[in-house]
Amino acid sequence: MELNLDRMLESVRDGQWSVDDFDWSQPLQGADHLSAKEKCEAGLMLLAVAGLERQAARIFDLASQHATDDRAAAIYRFFAADEKRHAEAETRLARRYGATEADLPLPTRAMLGVMGLQWRRKDRAVLHFETSAGIVFFELALDSLLIPALKEQVSDPVQAEVFRRIDIDESRHLAMDYWLIEQRGQAYANRNFSGFPADVLTAKSRADRARQALFLVPLAVTTLAGLGSLLVHAPSFRRALTADKIAKYQRRVGSIPRKAPHALASPFYRVAAQIPQGLARWGLAVRGESAPALT
Ligand SMILES: [Fe+2]
Ligand SMILES: [Fe+2]
Repeated sequence: MELNLDRMLESVRDGQWSVDDFDWSQPLQGADHLSAKEKCEAGLMLLAVAGLERQAARIFDLASQHATDDRAAAIYRFFAADEKRHAEAETRLARRYGATEADLPLPTRAMLGVMGLQWRRKDRAVLHFETSAGIVFFELALDSLLIPALKEQVSDPVQAEVFRRIDIDESRHLAMDYWLIEQRGQAYANRNFSGFPADVLTAKSRADRARQALFLVPLAVTTLAGLGSLLVHAPSFRRALTADKIAKYQRRVGSIPRKAPHALASPFYRVAAQIPQGLARWGLAVRGESAPALT
């Protein structure tokens, strides 16, 4: 897939917006059919998404420091600003639903806390490699699962406009995610590893692997517990995550190689893609649906 970085940089620069463009004092509309508890549940999902957007901001910030192309570095700097803005807008939306961060279940707060801790890692190049490989799966989940579920529940004009702007930003983020996956896949296919951190390619010592596991194991455990607990605490939102949305997410993850034809050349990508595919299969199984054939 060819991406014109000059045009992307121009588009992201021109597309910047501000949370101050909105009048946040307007009361929430189109939510009268929801009980106070259901409103709070929708707010909790927004706050959890905001926490994940703040992680995405750090991922893009790190990506800007490791980009080998100046235009890509500038684009990632804008993306980091986009994600901080999304997080702020979602936090303000959540407030209108009557939810605050203190209402988030403890395991969800722990998940966000542990995610924050990984930024203390010293192996910045490997951290960049890992986090930038995984972000596409989060962005697709936001686009296919979370925002559509929230949009469906409430037809509030402020929320609709915030989500419209976030959608536009996210479509640019996804285009760059596919671009990066393709670059990495091509490097593997051509065995051109010059931009890769050596640690990713060389066998690690047992001590290195143990150090990495020190971060990855609690991260995986707290992420599963944090997301699971959120869904337990927000049954109305859990119901909104219908099988067709989960199947759509799974299809989009499965079709990444169509946007990035060399994706599967990267062993790293092949392993990373198993996680969202597995979660989607589990989600469909919980809903009593079988996984559709991947296209
Ligand atoms: Fe975002
Ligand atoms: Fe994004």
